[in-house]
Amino acid sequence: MPASILNLLNDDHAYVSGQEISTRLDITRAAVWKKITVLRRRGFVIEAAPSKGYRLISAPDLAADYLLPRVRSALWKTILVHDVVASTNDLAMSLAAEEGIGHGTVIVADRQTRGKGRLGRRWESPGGKNIYMSLIIRPELSPPDLTMLTVLAAVAGARAIQNTGDIPAKIKWPNDLMIDDKKLGGILTEVRSDPDRISLAVIGIGINVNMRSADFPGGLRSIATSMRSAAGHAIARNALIIQLLREFEHWYGILTTEGKRLLLHAWRKHSATLGRRVSVTVGNEKISGIAEDINDNGMLRLKMHSGQYRNISAGDITFLR
Ligand code: BTN
Repeated sequence: MPASILNLLNDDHAYVSGQEISTRLDITRAAVWKKITVLRRRGFVIEAAPSKGYRLISAPDLAADYLLPRVRSALWKTILVHDVVASTNDLAMSLAAEEGIGHGTVIVADRQTRGKGRLGRRWESPGGKNIYMSLIIRPELSPPDLTMLTVLAAVAGARAIQNTGDIPAKIKWPNDLMIDDKKLGGILTEVRSDPDRISLAVIGIGINVNMRSADFPGGLRSIATSMRSAAGHAIARNALIIQLLREFEHWYGILTTEGKRLLLHAWRKHSATLGRRVSVTVGNEKISGIAEDINDNGMLRLKMHSGQYRNISAGDITFLR
């Protein structure tokens, strides 16, 4: 990545001298000043002190050139931030298919006009509040392991929410992020696969970050919530995205080098589902029982009232009392 002033200014608010920036970037002091002015116009708050230099006080929400150096990543090569798109998943799919945009690209949008949820549902995506992002991965995984990417994104999401907002987020099988049994976020993984290999996976993650209860449409108010409501204060979207990408990279490394065991262990630790009485809707069928575990393919292992077990690969869960 080419060095930029945003790589040099740290988040610890320490001063970096104009001379050091000029030497490190190989530009004149006047050019440094010009770049600082451009960053300030974009909403970066940068303090300048005559004998000390410059220091970064705060960054605007969702700035790609701020996010990328802070993710410090071998996996994530490109972060594209858009003000508005129809759906980050659709954009990611078409960029990957048509322009060959590759492994390790992240697409973030401030707002979506046709945000997609699972099973053809709509995902509420107003601007200025939440996170809508899609991760493009060309995984070294075989198709049966595909569900592991959703498991992985859910673990990364729950941990990032915990680290950023100190909120004990839980995972509701298969793809919901929850707090107190209300939905905080969701994951929509879409793939293109050859018979023996997944050639492309787009992992869409939506998290309700700063929505207030009144921002949700009436029908969602009793079942959805946000990090802000759970934490009692606003949450910085930049910090959450950085955490999420770091967590995803960490678990992706574990999955691809060591296998599924540790990831499944982490999933179980964050699960809101295991041990509970649930009703699962699979197509037109409704099955109830105790959610006992997930298996190596991310399938829910349900102990039915008859005492028999059933492994379920996809469905919608309702918690029973
Ligand atoms: C669900 O719980 O039903 C999944 C919701 C996934 C929403 C995200 S927001 C970013 C990405 N783009 C989309 O259109 N959907 C996913």
